[in-house]
Amino acid sequence: MPDTNIAPPSKNEGIKLRSRALRGSILEGLGQGWTGALADDDTQLTKFHGIYQQDDRDLRAERGRKRMEPALSFMARLRIPGGRVTGEQWLQLDAIARERANGTIRLTTRQTIQYHGIIKGNLQPAIAAVNDALLDTIAACGDVNRNVIATSNPHESPAHAAALDMARTLSDGLLPKSRAWHEIWLGEELVAGGEPEHEPLFGTTYLPRKFKIAIAVPPQNDVDVYAHDLGLIAAVEDGITVGYDVVVGGGMGMTHGEPDTFPRTGDTIGFCTPDQALAVADAVVRVQRDNGNRAVRKHARLKYTIERMGLDAFKREVEGHLGYALPPARGATFAGTGDRLGWHESADGTWHYGLFIENGRVHDLPTRRLMAGLRAIANIHRGELVMTANQNLVIAGVAPDDKAGIVAALAQHGLDGGASPLRQRAMACVALPTCGLALAESERYMPDLVTALDAVMAEAGLSGDEVVLRMTGCPNGCARPYMAEIALVGRGPGRYHLYLGGAFDGTRLNKLYRRDVDHAGVLAALSPLLHGWAAGRHPGEHFGEWVIRAGHVAATLAGNQFHADVADAA
Ligand code: HEM
Ligand code: SF4
Repeated sequence: MPDTNIAPPSKNEGIKLRSRALRGSILEGLGQGWTGALADDDTQLTKFHGIYQQDDRDLRAERGRKRMEPALSFMARLRIPGGRVTGEQWLQLDAIARERANGTIRLTTRQTIQYHGIIKGNLQPAIAAVNDALLDTIAACGDVNRNVIATSNPHESPAHAAALDMARTLSDGLLPKSRAWHEIWLGEELVAGGEPEHEPLFGTTYLPRKFKIAIAVPPQNDVDVYAHDLGLIAAVEDGITVGYDVVVGGGMGMTHGEPDTFPRTGDTIGFCTPDQALAVADAVVRVQRDNGNRAVRKHARLKYTIERMGLDAFKREVEGHLGYALPPARGATFAGTGDRLGWHESADGTWHYGLFIENGRVHDLPTRRLMAGLRAIANIHRGELVMTANQNLVIAGVAPDDKAGIVAALAQHGLDGGASPLRQRAMACVALPTCGLALAESERYMPDLVTALDAVMAEAGLSGDEVVLRMTGCPNGCARPYMAEIALVGRGPGRYHLYLGGAFDGTRLNKLYRRDVDHAGVLAALSPLLHGWAAGRHPGEHFGEWVIRAGHVAATLAGNQFHADVADAA
């Protein structure tokens, strides 16, 4: 597209181009013991290896006053397509958290795990240990295809198993070919002369921006399929996946006060068979590679490329790469975005326990000892552990003989108690103290907000009702707030924009309702609405529907319809 790529490329494009296929001077930087940091340009490149340099923001001001280097450490994110690991792998991941990171594991909203607090000297051993667990951190961040997510329990049906297989196929098929990760983190010999290898798909500058894929099996939209660059929705006949509807151009991030940035739900452009899916993904990636905005990173995601090209022109280019036209989509309806928590049995005779993990943080609290409990379970369990896209964990494929032991381990570690429906459905991004982009608290504030809102829900007789509540510390949207029925998006310390009216099944964006509210303001705004919903809803009507019907917010459409709100909110 001529208009965007005339402008000079952004700084990151130069860094990628000069990086010798993602090597930069990372290896040299790791050897520099006098600083906890890597060179600035290298901190952009480590993202392609799943690694972010961060500092402890709780300590930033004090260390600044003392003229000390910020308290630097690294976040490492794994690539775990479909979120599935074995019990043995979990034990290895747990050991890495305790020996090399801050002793906790963060389950993310995209079915993988993150470690926080890895100091520079621990990075190589930590990543080598991840490799020993037969996992990696390749392409977990950066301008590439990120972790591919899929509906969370492969045992639920053959279609669910096929979704996991597809996640792996797409993840492997779209992986960068560079051996830089192996050289830097595992000490593999440099390829002859150290010259960069050929990247047939990504070229020398990779993608303009991150790229995310999700695979859903209706009626469960547990992956929020419309929030990703590429979504595949399974079409299931007689229990077997016959193909996938193809959804393109979803994405969450925006910037406060910049109305030409906005969240967007994906558009359905056709249907493909399982055999064609990798080629379709490859074609979508190629069109984005060649047409995405490389001058302004804030406009570089696929959603903006599609807005600029027009959906029909975009689809034609994809079909040009494929050499055939995509047949019409089959259409799908969804029932919700949640996980199945608690015990359930699947047709293959195995049992599954959906374990609620508040905001995905696995750590030992006095009453809820998640690290120790999951270690105990991983020692008994012969099936898998599957991270969900809602920051929970499914203990999947439990053999009937192992169930009693797992029930006991859950009880011994305080993990069998229920949380309120509101808490179970709430998601918060990491935000402070590690995320450099956070404007407000999120993970550390959400538990208290839920407690306060649960009291309002109880007063209104809504204690048994489900509402999708999400929060992020900034507008980048890592916990997919713009899809939620109620969302708080950080503006500054203790201040949030309040959004309402997303769909319970993840098919509609919400809309700005109040600006810059604090804790008391959030409660004051939501309390009358929750009471109003309790009194005035139709049978089965979700909160997100009711706020629209009752005229509190307008229904939104996809795409840059969101503009108006953001401009208004600036
Ligand atoms: C401009 C957009 C974005 C930027 C710059 C950004 C940046 C970041 C950063 C720096 C972190 C690390 C925080 C930490 O662990 O301390 C993070 C976490 C994360 N981001 Fe984003 N992000 C963006 C948008 C998104 C979106 C739209 C999604 C998903 C729909 C997403 C998914 C995640 C996930 C899964 C994590 C891990 C922690 C969690 O589950 O909250 N990000 N992001
Ligand atoms: S939404 Fe913002 S504050 Fe939260 S993790 Fe993402 S970038 Fe950080």
